[in-house]
Amino acid sequence: MEKIIELVNVKKAYRIGNIVTWGLRGVDLVVYRGDYISVMGPSGSGKSTLLNMIGLLDVPTEGKVFIDGIDTSKLSSKKLAYLRNRKIGFVFQQFNLISRFTVLENIELPLVVRGIPRRKRIPKVIEALKMAGGDESWLQKKPTQLSGGQQQRVAIARAIVGDPEILLADEPTGNLDRRSAKTVIETFTMLNKRGQTMIIVTHDPEVANCTSKIYLLRDGVIIGREEPDPDKCIIRTVK
Ligand SMILES: Nc1ncnc2c1ncn2[C@@H]1O[C@H](COP(=O)(O)OP(=O)(O)OP(=O)(O)O)[C@@H](O)[C@H]1O
Ligand SMILES: [Mg+2]
Repeated sequence: MEKIIELVNVKKAYRIGNIVTWGLRGVDLVVYRGDYISVMGPSGSGKSTLLNMIGLLDVPTEGKVFIDGIDTSKLSSKKLAYLRNRKIGFVFQQFNLISRFTVLENIELPLVVRGIPRRKRIPKVIEALKMAGGDESWLQKKPTQLSGGQQQRVAIARAIVGDPEILLADEPTGNLDRRSAKTVIETFTMLNKRGQTMIIVTHDPEVANCTSKIYLLRDGVIIGREEPDPDKCIIRTVK
């Protein structure tokens, strides 16, 4: 099995003035290509911090993050941004769509960053939106003209449009009703079956139970793993 992510003793301290808060206190983690992982833990246990380290949105205070064998501690912020754009897709609880942009402009953003011309972007945007369970008729709308569940599908389309090797989701169903949550997890599960490496941070056991490995985080460390129960996955429990 091919390691796609490796964290070695990753620590993260946040400093505000003289006060230091530990987000992570030493995390070791190996993720293989094609893994479907969830991370659970109480509020403040470091789940978002962990995802931000893996997603190269922030750098560790100590320890190392390897992405596809690349030691990211050696990279400039420009190289980090390049790697993030090429290899990582991110889905957030609050969707994080740009409200003055249309759906089309939101989804194509990672491709614009890569300098891909418009005529090549459009078919990829449409494919990604369909894959995420969205509809072509949304393309010229603004995100606020869509429901929360629809906005999250747009956000997923934006996250996958560039074919990232790693898809990260921080509480992707936290703001959604059960039906919309189910649709989102159906999409993730389908993407994983096609080989997508996925990590989902969630408070919802019915989401975690759809993945193949559940990691438990407490006070900035991984304290163990739980066996998922596929019968209690939202895809089965919500009609
Ligand atoms: N930017 C920041 N500045 C200062 N402290 C931070 C910052 N981000 C996180 N922390 C602290 O780091 C710890 C871990 O926070 P984190 O956001 O990773 O937790 P979480 O598990 O995602 O929580 P939640 O379930 O509420 O989203 C907390 O004590 C938090 O207060
Ligand atoms: Mg969080």
